[in-house]
Amino acid sequence: MIRAMKISTLAAAACLGLCLSPAALAGDPAAGQEKSATCAACHGADGNSPLPENPKIAGQYADYLEIALREYRSGVRQNPIMAGMAAALTDEDIADLAAWYSSQDGLSVLPRNPVE
Ligand code: HEC
Repeated sequence: MIRAMKISTLAAAACLGLCLSPAALAGDPAAGQEKSATCAACHGADGNSPLPENPKIAGQYADYLEIALREYRSGVRQNPIMAGMAAALTDEDIADLAAWYSSQDGLSVLPRNPVE
């Protein structure tokens, strides 16, 4: 009985961490595409930046993009341009943008779903 309670408490704690984590927001790529209009000037329409000074973000892992944008927003990553771009983004905007760029062909060279 006590053991069962401990396990369910652990499961609940794990779920609090994972299930309520803002990083677990599922992004909507279509919404992300609409929100990417301001980003396109530097990163290209689909994230394949035409200029070497602006990184390519098409095909990057969504969680990488989310973390990068959160870190520009919080100041953990310091870049004056991206700090300004990320300042007004909500967690939902970030998830949507990450979903959009990660769904584009670009950096990824491996098959997206090798299991299928
Ligand atoms: C004025 C040009 C400009 C605009 C507009 C812009 N970016 Fe950036 N972005 C940059 C530059 C330059 C960097 C590299 C910054 C650095 O060295 O950290 C960058 C870096 C990034 C990175 C990190 C890439 C990596 O590989 O780590 C992401 C993600 C990103 N931008 C997303 C966006 C999104 C989303 C928008 C629109 C909301 C946007 N950017 C708008 C110029 C821009």
